[in-house]
Amino acid sequence: MKKQSGAFSVFVAGLVAALLIQLVNQSHVFLSTEKQTRWNAAKAKCEARYSRPSRLVTDERVYNPRTSIYGKNATSKLIKNALLLDGDGKLTSDLHDIFITNGLIKSIHKSGYSDQAQTLRTTTNHTLEVIDAKGHIASPGLVEMHSHIGICSQPELKGTNDMFELMSPATPFTRVIDAFNIGDPAIKLNAMGGVTSSLVLPSANIISGEGYVFKMAVPESRSVEQMLIQYDPEHPFQSPNAGKRHRWMKMACGENPKKRFMNRPEAPKSRMGLGYLFREYMDRAIRLKEEQDEWCKAVEQMNIPDTQFPHEVDIEILVGLLRGQVSSNAHCYETFDIETLLRHSKEYNFEVDALHHALDAYLIPDILKSLPWNITIATFATLWGFKKEAYQASLFSPEILNAHDLNVVLTTDHPALPGHTLVYQAQIAHNYGLPEDVAFASITGKPAGALNLDDRIGYLRVGYDADVVIWDKHPLQAGATPLKMLIDGEKVLDLAIEDGTFEQSAPKSRYTSKSIGADEEHLNEKSYLIKGISSSFLTTLEKSAESLFELLVEDGEVSCFSPSCPTTNREVIVIELEQGTIIPGITAVSEAHGLVDIPSEPSTGDGDIREYAGGSFRDSSSVMFAHNGLHLGSEHLVRALNSGVTRIITPPFRSEGQKFITGVSVAFKSSSSDLSSVLKDEVALHITLGDAGKEPSLPTISSQIAALKSLLIENKDLDNVYGRVARGELALAAHVNSKDIMIQLLRLQNELTFNLLIIGGLEAHLVSQTLVSQNVPVIVKGWRCQRKYWDERRCLTGVGGEETIISNLISAGVKVGLAYTEDLDIRMALDQIASATKASGISAKKAIEMASTNVMEIFGIEDSGKLSFVVLEGSPVEYGSRVAAIIEDGSLIRKSPQPEPAYDLYH
Ligand SMILES: *[C@@H]1O[C@H](CO)[C@@H](O)[C@H](O)[C@H]1NC(C)=O
Ligand SMILES: *[C@@H]1O[C@H](CO)[C@@H](O)[C@H](O)[C@H]1NC(C)=O
Ligand SMILES: *[C@@H]1O[C@H](CO)[C@@H](O)[C@H](O)[C@H]1NC(C)=O
Ligand SMILES: *[C@@H]1O[C@H](CO)[C@@H](O)[C@H](O)[C@H]1NC(C)=O
Repeated sequence: MKKQSGAFSVFVAGLVAALLIQLVNQSHVFLSTEKQTRWNAAKAKCEARYSRPSRLVTDERVYNPRTSIYGKNATSKLIKNALLLDGDGKLTSDLHDIFITNGLIKSIHKSGYSDQAQTLRTTTNHTLEVIDAKGHIASPGLVEMHSHIGICSQPELKGTNDMFELMSPATPFTRVIDAFNIGDPAIKLNAMGGVTSSLVLPSANIISGEGYVFKMAVPESRSVEQMLIQYDPEHPFQSPNAGKRHRWMKMACGENPKKRFMNRPEAPKSRMGLGYLFREYMDRAIRLKEEQDEWCKAVEQMNIPDTQFPHEVDIEILVGLLRGQVSSNAHCYETFDIETLLRHSKEYNFEVDALHHALDAYLIPDILKSLPWNITIATFATLWGFKKEAYQASLFSPEILNAHDLNVVLTTDHPALPGHTLVYQAQIAHNYGLPEDVAFASITGKPAGALNLDDRIGYLRVGYDADVVIWDKHPLQAGATPLKMLIDGEKVLDLAIEDGTFEQSAPKSRYTSKSIGADEEHLNEKSYLIKGISSSFLTTLEKSAESLFELLVEDGEVSCFSPSCPTTNREVIVIELEQGTIIPGITAVSEAHGLVDIPSEPSTGDGDIREYAGGSFRDSSSVMFAHNGLHLGSEHLVRALNSGVTRIITPPFRSEGQKFITGVSVAFKSSSSDLSSVLKDEVALHITLGDAGKEPSLPTISSQIAALKSLLIENKDLDNVYGRVARGELALAAHVNSKDIMIQLLRLQNELTFNLLIIGGLEAHLVSQTLVSQNVPVIVKGWRCQRKYWDERRCLTGVGGEETIISNLISAGVKVGLAYTEDLDIRMALDQIASATKASGISAKKAIEMASTNVMEIFGIEDSGKLSFVVLEGSPVEYGSRVAAIIEDGSLIRKSPQPEPAYDLYH
């Protein structure tokens, strides 16, 4: 018994000791219920510091929670007979069937695998809808990684522009979801271009705020919350810092944050000031993080602090960034801006997940490669030259970045570029060397991966959200557009799929950075032989037979154009082609070509009328003439020429702001560096009618029309520029898009009979009969219309089954010329012509006329009459063709010109 009791006391003592240790270790067991609750809450807060959303196991997904928002259970769908183009850009050669149910891709099998539809019908008990793709390509929905959709709604109005928060130059506390306008019609339009998910970011400030990823389908409920890709019916409206959802924030470097606050004395005006402001915020975030960690240490030691969990609403997201719970997306262009940001990231120990815009990133691949994380470059394929930050950009940058194993994503920055044309960015990147698979991945799988959402979007795989696009042709082909689309298994586009042939594979690239030969810059050869000409669009060089022709030019004159030209005794330059095409040189109507080289820097040439304050337009002597300001041989002109644009028409340059009378345009050859290149000094008087033409003395459209009328009537007999327009001696080029304003203008023209042409014309389809009857031509500018402004809100978009303004006007019998949306598009004129032609379904002949001779005729410009043309290798309306030779006045002046001659500011 004694023994026993001894053992027992040892046991009891042990038990008491163990209990004591436990008690000391977890003294909260003694806490009152109320304290216990507080402790639990504190503990949860502290644990949330480390929480991250878990990755979905796609194979195990049975249900897409987003399907609940569509109010009904979607019918299951079977897409039959589709080639699959996956988010890694790989295209199958076999046809496949995709079964979709509960908003997910449930299975993918080779077509003819079994009578799947029947099997599925019996096993799932859903109504099954069968979609026959007839051999067309099915791909995942496109993923846009940089959009302002919903916070910069269309048409742009003061009432709906919410993308710039100007209360302070750093606004880490703003959240896109607080402003997202579910009524933005661009949501539907983006979807019509194949975009199914978009990261919507706030703009411009050095630390700009929080962005969100939305699906591009508006639920019947009109709930913004339900448009979030991470919408969860079980936990709606959860706090973003609950650790359950991915979070994204936006920052910006360089010109954008620098320029916004010029009028605020306390705001930074230099990159140094921006750097300081950034550090100030990050210092605060570091301190807050430390305070939180201190607080949580106390909680871990069972003390319940009397204070609340340290929280500061304005820098909450920066602490999330420091804890790795928020991905950062930084708008930065120049190499030194990127490096500054990376220096900050090292100083404060956070990762820069994606560099956006980043046009110069291709110049510093080694710096980017050396980072210990996989940085994404979310860039553009097309932008160049409009501001200093963009002046070093290269068409080959996506190719170069990819060649260095950097993750390239392409974006539109909607509405900077129309979001529904995202696929065009991939087309152009591919056309300039980005391999075909990477080009398609850069708008699907790669952005999905960069957003940490590649466990549910960006791929066409089992268990993924059923966001599917069926294309009319390979999406990298010019003019490709979706025919059918599903988002979360719901149909959002349902056009007929016709029988017939279409391009099932990608086109070849126009250039790769390696394929460019040496540019023999200043040739002046009078005698040359061009072999392998398969077609000619020149009326003076008509091809009389199907076979390949040769063209022999001797002393600047055509001496032979036939299947075989006699060999001459002389040494002549020989150009051998496989599918040579002769076209007239392209004529571009530009905004600044030949006047300023960097439009946002008026010092780089003639200047900017925006800066002009004196004079009244009523005084005819205040009207400016572009020919007085020509600055030839510029970088823009060299690139224009090398892409086949040999003729340029430019009015005096006005960047933005209001100017009713812009001035008189000049027409010149892009090849020359002196005034001998001028084709016509005074081409047309350019005026702007509509909202863009309003100015203090002309605040309304009615005052603009009245002013135009009185200028024409009062000056009719005077020897000045207005008198010349009134008498029909000088054309009036009216920049106008609105149908209502065109009606006013056409009435005035009917009354006063002047020589009118329209530039823009995005609503011209609504007045096409009058245009035809009054013989008024239209130079279409901005055919990829996105209804950005009120004055163009009824334009045709060319997607979702809608035709383009080009095809509409041509079939109505209007004389149409093509202008380029922005000056930077002129160096890609062939790409623009190819996609406009294919999207409009017009013939190559019509397309070439529209881009060359029609523009010359519309402006009444006689060419010099001598032999001038451009020779392409390949078709002018397909990607993959390139300029082989440029002939001016009989002389061969360029052979295989480079699209981008070496950049040299001092040249
Ligand atoms: C105290 O509790 C923690 C976790 O709550 C545990 O890891 C640790 O081992 C415990 N210490 C003792 C001495 O029991
Ligand atoms: C949708 O399907 C689920 C599961 O099959 C079912 O519980 C629910 O009632 C259905 N909802 C509707 C609106 O039919
Ligand atoms: C399918 O639904 C019908 C009612 O709509 C029901 O009669 C039938 O039993 C169901 N079949 C299966 C396989 O669940
Ligand atoms: C970087 O991330 C992208 C997107 O997730 C992925 O496609 C790529 O393979 C990654 N690269 C490396 C080197 O990890």
